[in-house]
Amino acid sequence: MKIAISGKGGVGKTTIMALAAREFRRLGREVLIIDADPSPHMAQTLGISPEGITPLAEMTRLLAERAGKTPGSPYYQLNPQVNDLLERFMISRDGYRLMVLGAIQKAEAGCACPENQVLRKMLQKMLLGDNDVVLLDMEAGVEHLGRGTVAGVDHLLIVVIPSRSSIRTGLKIKKLAEEARITHVAFVGNLVGGEDDRLFLRENLGTEPLVCFPESPLIRRAERTEQPLVAIEDALDNAPAELVRKLIATP
Ligand SMILES: Nc1ncnc2c1ncn2[C@@H]1O[C@H](COP(=O)(O)OP(=O)(O)O)[C@@H](O)[C@H]1O
Ligand SMILES: [Mg+2]
Repeated sequence: MKIAISGKGGVGKTTIMALAAREFRRLGREVLIIDADPSPHMAQTLGISPEGITPLAEMTRLLAERAGKTPGSPYYQLNPQVNDLLERFMISRDGYRLMVLGAIQKAEAGCACPENQVLRKMLQKMLLGDNDVVLLDMEAGVEHLGRGTVAGVDHLLIVVIPSRSSIRTGLKIKKLAEEARITHVAFVGNLVGGEDDRLFLRENLGTEPLVCFPESPLIRRAERTEQPLVAIEDALDNAPAELVRKLIATP
C-alpha cells in the first residue's frame, strides 16, 4: 500500500504521517517513509538522528544519470533505473525505514526535474509485498500532483483544519488528485475541537473527513521540548488507529 499526504503548510501532515507510521508498525507492517518535503522534518519527528541520511536530491549527478538526461536536451527522458536507489539511500532505525528526498528544484514550464522523475519512477516501480506500507510525506501545495509525481500512490490523504484557507487548498488538491486518477482520495481533519468544527468541515468540504484528529497538548509539548513524536504514548486518542484501520479496510 502506498499512501501520500498533502494539504496546506502547517496543517499537520508530518505529524499525522508519523503517527500513522507508528500505528502500522504496531500492526507488524513494514514501513518505508519517503520525506519529499524540501525542508525535511520526518527524521526529527520520528526521533531518528539525521546522521547518515543522504538526501537523494544532493546526488544530482547520479539522479541526472538515472533520469536519462540527454546532453543538450532541455528535458529529462523517462525510464531511470531506480531499483538500487532505495537500498542506497534508505536508512533503517527502530523498525522504520526512511528516505529523504531533500530540496528539489522547482519545475519550470516544460522542465521535468530528475528528482521528481526518480521519485515518480520509484513509486511506480517499487515492488511491494502485502505487508509493506510506503508513506510519502510531501510539502505543502499541489506541485507534486501537478507533475504527476504521486500518480503511483493508492491513497492520497488531504489534511485540512477547520479554516477556510486550508479547505480551499484541500479542495484544489482533491481536484488535481482526481485528474491524476488516484484511486482513493480522502480528507483528514486536524485540530478539530468539537461538533462545530466537524460541521464546518463537512459543510465546506461537501463530505465527511475520513478521521478527525483533535488538538493535543502532548504533541504541542513534544514539539516545544524537541521530543520525537513517536515517543509520546497514545497522543491523539485513537485517531491514528482509526485512520490506519480505515486505510487497511479500503480495498
Ligand atoms: N493535533 C495536533 N495537536 C497539537 N499540535 C499539532 C497537531 N498537529 C500538528 N501540530 C503541530 O503543528 C505544527 C505543524 O505540524 P506539521 O505536522 O509539521 O505540519 P505540516 O507537515 O503540514 O507542515 C507542529 O508544530 C506540530 O507539532
Ligand atoms: Mg511537514
